[in-house]
Amino acid sequence: MNQLFQPYTLAGRTLANRVVMAPMTRSRAPDDVATEAIALYYAQRATAGLIVSEGTPISREGQGYLFNPGIYTKAQIDGWRLATQSVRALGGSMFAQLWHVGRVSHPSIQPDGKAPVSGSSRIAEGGMAYGYLEDGQPGMVPTTVPRQLTTAEVTRVVGDFADAAANAVEAGFDGVEIHGANGYLLEQFLNPLVNDRDDRYAADSMENRLRFALEVVDAVIARVGRERVGIRLSPYGRLYGMPHYDEIDATYSALVKALGERSIAYVHIMDQSGFIIGADSTANSVAEKIHHLLRVFRADLPETALILAGSMTRKRAEALVEDGTIDLAGFGQPFISNPDLVARLRNGWPLAQPDRATYYGGDARGLIDYPPYSAQ
Ligand SMILES: Cc1cc2nc3c(=O)[nH]c(=O)nc-3n(C[C@H](O)[C@H](O)[C@H](O)COP(=O)(O)O)c2cc1C
Repeated sequence: MNQLFQPYTLAGRTLANRVVMAPMTRSRAPDDVATEAIALYYAQRATAGLIVSEGTPISREGQGYLFNPGIYTKAQIDGWRLATQSVRALGGSMFAQLWHVGRVSHPSIQPDGKAPVSGSSRIAEGGMAYGYLEDGQPGMVPTTVPRQLTTAEVTRVVGDFADAAANAVEAGFDGVEIHGANGYLLEQFLNPLVNDRDDRYAADSMENRLRFALEVVDAVIARVGRERVGIRLSPYGRLYGMPHYDEIDATYSALVKALGERSIAYVHIMDQSGFIIGADSTANSVAEKIHHLLRVFRADLPETALILAGSMTRKRAEALVEDGTIDLAGFGQPFISNPDLVARLRNGWPLAQPDRATYYGGDARGLIDYPPYSAQ
């Protein structure tokens, strides 16, 4: 039997199948509040076994891009409710991706125009945020030098994650995915070539480098329960100025072991090799390293599901689920243009190609107007 399309029990919750819609920022929330169109977009995709929402900022400080629906005000909680209720009514499950960008931001979108904050005082080389240009119009702006969070402020940010998790549950999400991937705040502590601190979160020891991530996880577990907590990680990622370092395998093995001990719902790995590096020899060796890490992770996650996303295909997903390498398979871009992706995969129907020009921002075009296969 083909396991990919069979139900799966995720920390006590039954998912209709093992296909996960990966988190995707679509930048279509004019006031940073999820709209009816955004609710419809997710409802159209509710046949996914699990939907992970686009990154939802946990605070204004945690925001690096305009027009992202956040999860830190009452209006934002109310805004998300239509999406979560619609997905649930259609038999789907949905987690909110909790997001703090750290240094990948710009003063034009920070409270009082202040510098973005980070675990580090080092700039994200080559990073871009989506803020306001000098003429006041929205546009891509280069990231600026961050201000390193004080030790006390780090504790406050941990609390912001916990508050956002409680807000997400109030908004009707089934759980939360802590965004620990793609060069954002958690990685700015984890990476010893970025972390330049000298307190208990410093890069001088593995324990200290992992401390922030684990404090966030523990605070979120304490607030909403371990069965509602997932985390996304991107070992060997390079997005937003993340240099590779010697202890990548050791770092992520130790982190995932600690997550396994906490029995959270899932660990979601994003393989960036096809996404940004391109299909060259570096990408192949990164993909191989991640494949090796997945086996290490699997052994350390007795009660926690393992998800992999990045250039997923039906064939690859089936093979990886079948041989037990992963439990659930994440698909990103295919879900943009195929609201009925699960039916298309299951029936072998052709996939529509997404239009990159409408990935971010703009109106409903490219968001809710991709038809299901049967209607074409
Ligand atoms: C338009 C777009 C927005 C994305 N936004 C996010 C995001 O908010 N959070 C995140 O963790 N990953 C984000 N990603 C990465 C996807 O979750 C996914 O890992 C990536 O697209 C690779 O999977 P794919 O090859 O199936 O598209 C985004 C990707 C795309 C294309």
